[in-house]
Amino acid sequence: MAGSKFAYVKKFELPDTLLPSTFMVLRLDGHSFHRFSDQHGFVKPNDLRALQLMDHAAKSLMEEYKDIGLAFGESDEYSFLLRKSTALYNRRQAKIVSTLTSLFTSCYVFHWPKYFPDVPLQYPPSFDGRIVLYPSQREVRDYFAWRQADTHINNLYNTAFWALVQQGGKTTTEAHAILRGTVSKDKHEILFSGFEINYDKIDPRYRKGSVFVRVETTPEEPADELSTNTDTTSVRPVVSEESHRKGKEEKKKKKVATQIELLHCDIIRDEFWDKYAHLMRD
Ligand code: GTP
Ligand code: MG
Repeated sequence: MAGSKFAYVKKFELPDTLLPSTFMVLRLDGHSFHRFSDQHGFVKPNDLRALQLMDHAAKSLMEEYKDIGLAFGESDEYSFLLRKSTALYNRRQAKIVSTLTSLFTSCYVFHWPKYFPDVPLQYPPSFDGRIVLYPSQREVRDYFAWRQADTHINNLYNTAFWALVQQGGKTTTEAHAILRGTVSKDKHEILFSGFEINYDKIDPRYRKGSVFVRVETTPEEPADELSTNTDTTSVRPVVSEESHRKGKEEKKKKKVATQIELLHCDIIRDEFWDKYAHLMRD
């Protein structure tokens, strides 16, 4: 294509290809959600509607991008793990971050009325996005452990804080002062002796966050005939070119059906990673 005299400006665009053979973690975080949650009357400490809406947007992203095998969400953030070998957008960083962040945000807005039928959006929410590359399984596991440990710390604090305010009649300043310097055991005790709340019995959704895993299913019927909530992904190209029939059969054999499951489980211990070892495969 012949360029105009202005076309040289294209040369100023720098390549931003992400290192090959590394795990990509994309984390999205609600921008100024302290304000956004206040303005939309989110329930404290946890708003089920808001969390379910985040989950919905995250699942939509996984449905669209099959290279995401795992997602973890809490509060106003979501992290997504992409396959080590993903060739998504030729691993161009800005393209991946901007497109996925944009889709997540539009899904959040698109599905808002389903979760908040009586609360009109006051203004358009936005999310920031970043990608961090991790060289090995160890860092990937520690990354997700870090996020879930954060969920635990924040949720325990917030649960104790709002119990003191909402049920204990304390001011927010008093509640902060009571909790200052306390360790985990003290907060459990405040909740139990003060409010008969057994923290360990609180909905695991709040204590553990949301975990989406893509799992392979072994369907009885050919993958082509699977129900609509099941994604089908061709993992290897068709090898046989001998005949159309043979090729079709081969294709059916090579197709792997996947499903996206929502869990609220521990992702720090070995059990999870042993069970879903395929998440770390290429
Ligand atoms: P930036 O991310 O730096 O733009 O700031 P932020 O205001 O979004 O804060 P941050 O991401 O650190 O924390 C998320 C904030 O969202 C929390 O501090 C809460 O104020 C709010 N939030 C998230 N989930 C809930 C919820 O379920 N209920 C309520 N009431 N607030 C929530
Ligand atoms: Mg935020």
